[in-house]
Amino acid sequence: MARSQRTSIHGQWGSRWAFILAATGSAVGLGNIWRFPYVVGESGGGAFVVLYLLFVLGVGVPVMMGEILLGRHGRQSPINTLSTLCREYGTQRAWVLLGWLGVLAGFIILSFYSVVAGWSLAYVPMTAGGAFLDAGADRVGELFAGLLDRPLELVLWHSVFMALCFAVVSRGVRSGLEKAVRFLMPALFLLLILLVGYGMGAGAFAEAMRYLFLPDLGELLAGGEAGSLGALMLGAVGQAFFTLSLGMGAIMVYGSYLSSRSSILQNSVIIAGADTAIALIAGLAVFPIVFAVGLEPDSGAGLVFITLSAGFGQMPAGALFGTLFFVLLSFAAWTSAISIMEPATAYLVENRGWSRRRAAAVVALAAWAMGILSALSLGGLLVALYVGWVLPRRVAEAELQLSHPMFSAWLTLIRWLVPLAIVLVFLNALGVF
Ligand code: PHE
Repeated sequence: MARSQRTSIHGQWGSRWAFILAATGSAVGLGNIWRFPYVVGESGGGAFVVLYLLFVLGVGVPVMMGEILLGRHGRQSPINTLSTLCREYGTQRAWVLLGWLGVLAGFIILSFYSVVAGWSLAYVPMTAGGAFLDAGADRVGELFAGLLDRPLELVLWHSVFMALCFAVVSRGVRSGLEKAVRFLMPALFLLLILLVGYGMGAGAFAEAMRYLFLPDLGELLAGGEAGSLGALMLGAVGQAFFTLSLGMGAIMVYGSYLSSRSSILQNSVIIAGADTAIALIAGLAVFPIVFAVGLEPDSGAGLVFITLSAGFGQMPAGALFGTLFFVLLSFAAWTSAISIMEPATAYLVENRGWSRRRAAAVVALAAWAMGILSALSLGGLLVALYVGWVLPRRVAEAELQLSHPMFSAWLTLIRWLVPLAIVLVFLNALGVF
């Protein structure tokens, strides 16, 4: 059977390398530079790394090939690709859910992803301004907690990040995504090399090498810090899928812009190889600094924001290299987040006939709102607004079966008092009063 002759209405990558850069940009993100080191640290080092490598190769690469081939064959957003393929090959329609699930999961991931990316952006001026110089781990921990206690600032950085993503996705495949990764990926790589060089010169490099690459077989079989081999394996599979951007339609949609002549196997191996190399190099940038100043590697999600910052604060030229680190982390998050937005954006262009700009704006706004809702837990407000103002009144009346005065009281509460109270609490938390 011949390859599909369809073309994508969104255009095609300028070259095979543009695709590889973009997919690597998607894969390399917070997962490599923020999550990988802390998960390794929590699970006890080399034992986790070995399993992770096995899963990337044995599970990640085949699934990545599957996603790329689906995208390239269908040449549409994941939802429409699945729908077309189900129709063409007479397969069960329920598989279209796969496309929808990706979009949904993408929004959920994006809502925390852009919050963490916002922390990273906030750390650029903080680190450059010398906030961590000679501050002990306790003080750095307080500074991090302090940032988390200032919702207005968090919302601001989250908004800046979403705006950056909109700026790229709204310009389309060639002049948006491709142009961004052509600049950001080499910059990212350069920064990473600089940081490893720094860690080699100034940090406990040998100790970090041993920690990452010399697994203790006994510890591996016992499951390291994870407690059992099963738990350790589960963590490694999860990390492998997340770091390779699989299961969210991101790689699928990028595959839909790939030339039919390019080898999917080769490309997948290059992308997974680059992603893995960058995760390991990120480990070699982070751990030498952590060990050099005698800090523990198992501090969890705060590892790069607290432990590493404390490390930089005690090292020569730490403010400079610390700043570079958070620029690097922000770039990595940026090239990943745009790939999470792309499936939903492409879908809106295809099914609504919207312009790219409009589709990207709607997706960015929805992700922005979800990020705020999730950051500030405002879901209850939406329930109140919908039930109080949107749903026909007789539906609520019929369901609640209250006496007239009771119903009126409830309606007044849910229409006026509840939203007002939530908004006031929210404004208060933002420091408006
Ligand atoms: N791979 C990205 C990272 O490691 C995250 C991601 C997941 C991006 C799913 C796109 C889709 O940070």
